[in-house]
Amino acid sequence: MSEQTSFYPELQRKIAEPSGTLGVLLPGMGAVATTLMAGVYLINKGLAKPVGSLTQMRRIRLGKRSDPRFALIKDVVPLANLTDLRFGGWDIYPATAYESAVNAGVVPPDLLAQVRDELAEIGPWPAVFDRAYVRNLDGSHVKTGLATKMDMAEALMRDIESFRQRSGVSRTVMIWCGSTEIHSQPVAVHETIETFERGLKDNAPEISPSMIYAYAAIQSGVAFANGAPQLMVDIPALQQLAADRGVPIAGKDFKTGQTLLKTIVAPGLKARMLGLDGWFSTNILGNRDGEVLDDADSFRSKELSKGGVLDSILQPALYPDLPRCITRSASNTTRRAATPRKAGTTSTSSAGWDSRCRSRSISCVAIRFWQRRSYSTSSCCSTWRNGPRCPVFRNGCRSISNHR
Ligand SMILES: NC(=O)c1ccc[n+]([C@@H]2O[C@H](COP(=O)([O-])OP(=O)(O)OC[C@H]3O[C@@H](n4cnc5c(N)ncnc54)[C@H](O)[C@@H]3O)[C@@H](O)[C@H]2O)c1
Repeated sequence: MSEQTSFYPELQRKIAEPSGTLGVLLPGMGAVATTLMAGVYLINKGLAKPVGSLTQMRRIRLGKRSDPRFALIKDVVPLANLTDLRFGGWDIYPATAYESAVNAGVVPPDLLAQVRDELAEIGPWPAVFDRAYVRNLDGSHVKTGLATKMDMAEALMRDIESFRQRSGVSRTVMIWCGSTEIHSQPVAVHETIETFERGLKDNAPEISPSMIYAYAAIQSGVAFANGAPQLMVDIPALQQLAADRGVPIAGKDFKTGQTLLKTIVAPGLKARMLGLDGWFSTNILGNRDGEVLDDADSFRSKELSKGGVLDSILQPALYPDLPRCITRSASNTTRRAATPRKAGTTSTSSAGWDSRCRSRSISCVAIRFWQRRSYSTSSCCSTWRNGPRCPVFRNGCRSISNHR
């Protein structure tokens, strides 16, 4: 095996060099999508660093451990340059990407002003929308006069094609940045391509708008990623279609907020064989995403996606003697009027032996974080000894606060 492939056999695969420009299509031009666009333009102008971007900043080790070389991922994997990205998207509101970014309040106004012209040029195309799936929004910038869901999918395919022709992109991807839809389960119409296409023609209520976007993307040969937690591209019909057409699909929620902290903190506690017996999360809902998640069925999609992460890390079946971690999630709307921002608090409780004094000790860590919904912000942490007292576990535990 060559030096390069000894640790990364997948690099043996021949991947075509990225040539030309890459179209990035974003259904839902809200906080996430406009922060992505603003970040890319700011970085391209040299006004910001891609902090938080794995592909742009992270290095991987190549070669032997005794003689390592640390190369940037973007120099090893053939990826498009940020300067080669071209954006387009849909939304149920007609605001331009600039107006929407101002409204989202993630990127500071002084920075946003420096990419105003680029963002103001991007206006969303009318969306495919069904209020049954996002009950708390009611935008009017939607496609009309289309009798069936298949007609809507075909209209989206025409949008994709005319974007390709106008912008001259050579490749295109689509990333769902739209609101969280209500929780749903796979049913018969989702089973095969045939049942799904029949459902599109018959307006099957179980086919959500996000599934229509995913279908249109795959049919157009556009790679599709899902940034939301609801059932979407993970149904057998769309998986089969993607496999048949050789189109990559990925994703189930961006997992960039509370779930990110779970995936960072839980492996550390597990590595020390500390039993986690409680994990309590509260969403303090802010801005439009908060408004959407204020609906119990949309929040249920989010809650289920967050919940599965801990079990997959802690492996309770493999470690039955450790306390079973009880998770609780709640949403809190009382702060919403006071803050346009989304925020969250997380408290965990863990138990284990203290190896120095050989006595049973209970330790408890509470983590709080304030999430500014940005891909590229740095965080600041106080140590848990100096942190404020934990609001949940009052028995001498301290909290780490991590605010963005
Ligand atoms: N913000 C975060 O930190 C974060 C973290 C993880 C996952 N997510 C997920 O990412 C998605 C976007 O989050 P956000 O914070 O940008 O929300 P947001 O409310 O700011 O933006 C979502 C946008 O989607 C639009 N929309 C809704 N239905 C649509 C449709 N059918 N077609 C086109 N547009 C539609 C809304 O009008 C809104 O402008 C959500 O699903 C959210 O759960 C967000």
